This record gives sequence, structure tokens and C-alpha cells, in this order.
Amino acid sequence: MSVTPTAPRYTRVAVILHWVIALLILGQLAGGLFFTNLSFATHAELRISLTQFHKAVGLTVLVLSIARLIWRLTHRPPALPVGMSRMEHMAAKATHILFYVLIIGIPLAGWLMVSAYKNPISYFGVFNWPKIPGFEGQNDFGEIMHEVHEYMAFAAIALIALHIGAALKHHFINKDNVLARMLPLVKARNKD
Ligand code: HEM
Ligand code: HEM
Repeated sequence: MSVTPTAPRYTRVAVILHWVIALLILGQLAGGLFFTNLSFATHAELRISLTQFHKAVGLTVLVLSIARLIWRLTHRPPALPVGMSRMEHMAAKATHILFYVLIIGIPLAGWLMVSAYKNPISYFGVFNWPKIPGFEGQNDFGEIMHEVHEYMAFAAIALIALHIGAALKHHFINKDNVLARMLPLVKARNKD
């Protein structure tokens, strides 16, 4: 059987997009949980400006995540280490697909949510980001999207914990190159 050779590590674009999106998502999760707990009675101004900032960063994540998905569909990732079982292959694939669903689904649900409300979506104060047409004034729909946004964010937290655990297991227990090939400036190990 002929095997198509693949690059030993992820492309530079894939690595940059992985880490930029990862940092932004972690910031969005922490920020979202923080500002939604600020009281309007005592911190109204801070809460409103953090919400605006959260929306603008989130929409940036949406654009980057779509670009990343396109990159992923057009660039084959490096093959997984040979010693991994079929189950591990399937678990890795399922996790990665779910991640793509979440990194696009969470900001999309956020955009749908705020498209239903009347406040404008300011993009870092530079311009008003358009709303998705057809939802303005539909507050019930906005509330549903808020719930979807929130539950997907909780799912992302669980998945990130699993993902980091898997990456560290590969690096420190299996001692393969799975983590190294996704790190910038680190040479992939020779062993798979
Ligand atoms: C990029 C990924 C994003 C992540 C990980 C994220 C995460 C979160 C989290 C954890 C919360 C707090 C939980 C809650 O809903 O009460 C939250 C709240 C919120 N998010 Fe996002 N978000 C993202 C993108 C967006 C986008 C693109 C928008 C809108 C354009 C948005 C709009 C909002 C709003 C309006 C709230 C607060 C609702 C309230 O005040 O109760 N989010 N987000
Ligand atoms: C919000 C945080 C994160 C998200 C959304 C995320 C998402 C993803 C996705 C979608 C992939 C699949 C790449 C592809 O084939 O297209 C991936 C791969 C990977 N991620 Fe993350 N990641 C996050 C954080 C992290 C962290 C903190 C680490 C390290 C501790 C990490 C280590 C890796 C590694 C090593 C791979 C490559 C796995 C392989 O070769 O199969 N990620 N990540």
C-alpha cells in the first residue's frame, strides 16, 4: 500500500492560527465569565465597555476561525504517530471537529444574539459591525441564542481541559512529537 508522505509538523499558518485563536478564546471565556458577573448598579460603565470589547474580539475570532477552517480543508495535517490506536485516532478527530464547531458556533451564536437586540455592535469604536438581518427586535430569539452561546462556552471549557491533558500526555508520557509539531520555534522530535 502506498502512503502519501505528509509534512512532519503543522504549517506555520496553522500553528499561528491555532495559538492566536487559542489565546483569544481563553481570554473571551475568562472575560465573558468576569463581565457578566459585574453588577449594573455599581459597574455599569465598565460592564458596557467590556461587553463591547468582548463582541469585537469575538467577531475577530469568528473571521479567524473561518479562515482556519478553510486552511485546514485545503492543507493536510501531519499524520498521527504510528503507535496510536484506532480509538485514539477517532478521539483526536472527534475532538478537533468539535473544536471547529465551537470556535465558529460560539461567536456565531453571540452575533445572532446581539443581532436580535437593539444596541449597535461597535467594532473597537472604528465602525459599526453589521447585524445579521431579520432578527432585530426578536428578544426571545436573542435569549435562546444567549443560552446557546453560554452552553457552548461551557462545552469549550471541558473540551479545552481534555485537549490540554491529551497534549501533555503525548509530550511527557508517550514522548512523541504531537505537541512539538504544533509549537512555534520548537523542532519536532524524531520519534513520530
Ligand atoms: C469568540 C468566542 C466567544 C467566547 C468564547 C464567548 C464566551 C462568552 C462567555 C463565557 C460569556 C459569559 C456567559 C454568559 O453568556 O452569560 C459570554 C457572554 C456574552 N457574549 Fe460572548 N463569547 C464569544 C464571542 C461573542 C461574540 C462574537 C459576541 C457578539 C457579537 C458575544 C456576545 C456576548 C454577550 C452580549 C454576552 C453577555 C450577555 C450578558 O450581558 O448577559 N460573544 N460570552
Ligand atoms: C482555546 C484553546 C484551544 C483550541 C480552540 C484548540 C483547538 C485545536 C484544534 C481545532 C486542533 C486541530 C488542528 C487541526 O488539525 O486542524 C488543535 C490541535 C492541537 N492543539 Fe489545540 N486548541 C486549544 C488549545 C491548546 C493548548 C493550550 C494546547 C497545548 C497544551 C494545544 C495543543 C494542541 C496540539 C499539540 C495539537 C495538535 C494535535 C495533533 O497533531 O493531532 N491546544 N487544537
